[in-house]
Amino acid sequence: MAWMKADVLGAYTSLQRDYGDAVWFRTGPFQLFVFYHPDQVRELLVSRSKSFIRLPRVMETFAQWNGESILIVEGEQWVRQRRLVQPAFQPRRFTDYGRMIVETTQKLLASWSPAIERDCQIEVDANTAMTGLTLEVICKVLFDVDASEATERIANAVAVLSEVGFHEMQAAIRLPDWWPTEFYRKKRAAMKTLDDFVWGIIRERRSEGVDHGDLLSMLLAAVDEEGDGGKLNDRQVRNEAMTLMLAGHDTTAAALDWVWYNIARFPEVASRCRAEIDDVLTENLPTITDVPRLKYLEATIKETLRLYPPAIGVFLRQATESTTIGGYDIPRGALVGLSSFATHRDSRWFPDPERFDPERFLPPAVDQIPAGAYFPFGMGPRVCIGQSFAMTEMILIAATVLQKCDITLKNPTQDPGMLVHMALRPRAPVILKFQRR
Ligand code: HEM
Repeated sequence: MAWMKADVLGAYTSLQRDYGDAVWFRTGPFQLFVFYHPDQVRELLVSRSKSFIRLPRVMETFAQWNGESILIVEGEQWVRQRRLVQPAFQPRRFTDYGRMIVETTQKLLASWSPAIERDCQIEVDANTAMTGLTLEVICKVLFDVDASEATERIANAVAVLSEVGFHEMQAAIRLPDWWPTEFYRKKRAAMKTLDDFVWGIIRERRSEGVDHGDLLSMLLAAVDEEGDGGKLNDRQVRNEAMTLMLAGHDTTAAALDWVWYNIARFPEVASRCRAEIDDVLTENLPTITDVPRLKYLEATIKETLRLYPPAIGVFLRQATESTTIGGYDIPRGALVGLSSFATHRDSRWFPDPERFDPERFLPPAVDQIPAGAYFPFGMGPRVCIGQSFAMTEMILIAATVLQKCDITLKNPTQDPGMLVHMALRPRAPVILKFQRR
């Protein structure tokens, strides 16, 4: 499997090229099936999803910092936890979320203003800026706190765990955390940073006893009315809050890195986005009601997620019973994987697949995309719970910035390459130049 670890994106793509839509091989004691066809994607994630669980080995790694949260658990426990967390993502809450997203983005723009006044432009590392911004947004939405002081610390801890997680999932054996090396010292420090932050907020909230109308208040008060009427204890609240904080910013930040990269790279896309924003917003700040009208911007973001799906490592499942996918027998215990990266770049579903073209996600072309060919957020029961939030957040952030700034790349000819850790990020820094419009 060393060949796969060295270039996981290329490996999945070449397996399909060499063997077709269904590939089977052995890895250690397991049989691994990889499927690429949209019908097979839907079978695994939707119609036969009950016969599979997320790969325990991957989940054990995530569980070290997420605990037994919605991301990790299976079966009845998952049904209950999803039911308790779901209310936070109801559409009626999005007016407030939208306001928080725009305010936080404006704060970032204001911090750039002195440099733009002085030098007419500012150079920004996309990844640092977007990680900080999405972390601030999610902390405001989840915990009603201004985390600007803590974002650097948290972002560093997440970067460490992202790398640790990636290595641990691939290692033959996992060493104990007390192992006396720099790698494990950094891992322990990163886990403590995140724990101190989340527990600190939960303790403060419990002692305050005030309902802030945010996700944390909702989790602390949540009662499972359809189930046993039980509440979450503090450890369970901590696990869900930590998971939503981590899942709720890392992938979105990675996606935004690529959104800016593409908007800066393709001036004709940038000017269409800008024309639409000017037309829809007429110089007002964006609000939640503008989101459905920013169709071209939305298509630009969807096209970015097609070419650079941020959460590529999550589509590995293990069969809990014998079943079939695409007519192939899958024995109990076998592993089954999908590659959104490869399926999203398949010319049968996306003609001229390497070309960046937001029109694919607008009528009439969008109607030609088969169900199961595009799944950056997954599909079926385990589909990303934050999908609407993430899309809303990206549209509002991009609209707020593009309304005020022109964006170019510092190195227009440089291809940053792709780095596969927990999220798919640019390998080399993408340095953006923002100028006032
Ligand atoms: C561009 C941004 C995002 C992408 C691409 C993304 C993608 C994904 C994917 C592919 C999955 C797994 C689906 C599967 O295993 O079948 C997932 C699950 C999940 N995501 Fe996201 N996500 C994003 C943003 C968010 C946000 C903003 C939140 C929360 C605020 C979030 C919370 C979660 C949770 C809790 C799960 C586990 C759901 C479950 O197992 O029931 N994600 N996401």
